[in-house]
Amino acid sequence: MSKNGSISSSVIKRLPRYYRFLGELKKQGVDRISSRELSQRMKLTASQIRQDLNCFGGFGQQGYGYHVDELREEIGKILGVDRQFGTILIGAGNLGNAIATHINFDTRGCKLIGIFDNNEQLIGRQVGNLTVRHTDEIPAFCNEHHPIAAVLCIPKQAIQQIADTLVVMGIKAFWNFSHYDLSIGYDDIIVENVHLGDSLMTLSYRLNVLTSEKEMESDEYEQ
Ligand code: NAI
Repeated sequence: MSKNGSISSSVIKRLPRYYRFLGELKKQGVDRISSRELSQRMKLTASQIRQDLNCFGGFGQQGYGYHVDELREEIGKILGVDRQFGTILIGAGNLGNAIATHINFDTRGCKLIGIFDNNEQLIGRQVGNLTVRHTDEIPAFCNEHHPIAAVLCIPKQAIQQIADTLVVMGIKAFWNFSHYDLSIGYDDIIVENVHLGDSLMTLSYRLNVLTSEKEMESDEYEQ
């Protein structure tokens, strides 16, 4: 596994997409696929795909392409989707609820085992198949169940204090939805910051380019 530790983050970021695509191909009953066809479907170049997969030793065979199920399984192993990393979620508000009920943790390497909030009115509520517990219970819960990852769905003002407590309790990875840069001060802790707004701004950028081109075209036409 250590050989994968040096893989560039851009390659790692593409792996879930390969995994998802291969899963769809599998559902469609496709057994094998050439790197050219896979590249066309995924809108990547065939050499990009070969380069990506070569980082892990390469899975294709000359003249055969890729065996869909095998490749998906190998990528799944690299991603660790077959693991069950104990995960807790902090903040059972709108976002926390949506994540806990709509993200399938089990098929993505993590197992959601606890949900916590500090709002008394939410304690005891059912979210999916879990009951919301008070944040005061976090230390006892961690001592008993040893979660290794935490999803943070609380306002940014509360993040640092909670994160410090969780690190002491053995949490090694944060899936952080608060708009707060948690990587600061935690060199040995894995942080995956998620900003849906950034994705929207990327869309806005592309729309901006598209509409500017169209406007330029119509300006030229009018002149
Ligand atoms: P919300 O107000 O519905 O839920 C926040 C929950 O956190 C509440 O239940 C509250 O009681 C709890 N909470 C507050 N302080 C706490 C603490 N110290 N310990 C434990 N629980 C605590 O808010 P919502 O809509 O769920 O958003 C949560 C956060 O996620 C916000 O900071 C928001 O800005 C952010 N957000 C981030 C997105 C992203 O793309 N990264 C998208 C949407 C929201």
